[in-house]
Amino acid sequence: MDVPLYFYLAFKDMERLAAGSDTSTYNVLDLLNIDSCLKLNILDIGCGVGSDTLILADYFKNSTVEAVDLFGHYLDALNSEVSKNNLNDRILTYEMDMNDLDFANEEFDIVFSHASAEIIGFRKALRKWKRLIKKDGYLICSDLTWILKPSAESKEFWLRTYAEVDTIENKISQIENAGFKYINHYTIPKSDFDGYYSKLKSNLAKLKSDKSAKDFIKQLEDEISISKNDDFSYVFYIMKKSNHQ
Ligand SMILES: C[S@@+](CC[C@H](N)C(=O)[O-])C[C@H]1O[C@@H](n2cnc3c(N)ncnc32)[C@H](O)[C@@H]1O
Repeated sequence: MDVPLYFYLAFKDMERLAAGSDTSTYNVLDLLNIDSCLKLNILDIGCGVGSDTLILADYFKNSTVEAVDLFGHYLDALNSEVSKNNLNDRILTYEMDMNDLDFANEEFDIVFSHASAEIIGFRKALRKWKRLIKKDGYLICSDLTWILKPSAESKEFWLRTYAEVDTIENKISQIENAGFKYINHYTIPKSDFDGYYSKLKSNLAKLKSDKSAKDFIKQLEDEISISKNDDFSYVFYIMKKSNHQ
């Protein structure tokens, strides 16, 4: 798929395409509390350059991880890491739209997605991706969440850009309404935003002369600016598709 050059350049050479860290992802996987030696089928939706795909494969050493993203240039970056680490037999990548995932029902033990559900909306993601999970399998899905009473400034920004930002309590209700059993959640720390925003800022600075990127740059700069309010974060939600659901 073609993307404007500025979109490609804004995220160029970034190890992660959203706030996050290896430590947070390992912490989230620990919360699952399942045997990491099991042979599982795992799916990473909206994998980007695949930092979490590689962690999933590292944590679950006997498992296969399939990773999908809409953009081939991100998958190219992941594929080169996969080859470098001799993981070609355990990590498979596909250029695919998360709205229309070409996998069989109940194919996966774990479906994982970080910072990507917002593209279609958290509630829709829960509904659409549930069929892919085996009975008693898990969905681990992060979403933008109010972690403090939101400031007027943050509220105004997110209402414009992702109106589904909500409290942890309300996200848990949405999980239960979608027929999952809520298991646990993990809020990524503020430090997980620092590295991401600082690299993003320096990439955006190089794009300033591109007039066609004006609105795109402004939206990302506004997000970086309101992050000082410390009232939102990504929260990973761990949920189970129970037998009776
Ligand atoms: C914010 S990034 C997160 C990437 C990665 N999970 C990470 O944490 O670094 C969102 C990802 O979703 C991908 N994406 C956007 N629209 C998509 C779609 N319709 N289907 C699949 N992936 C999509 C983007 O290319 C990008 O890699």
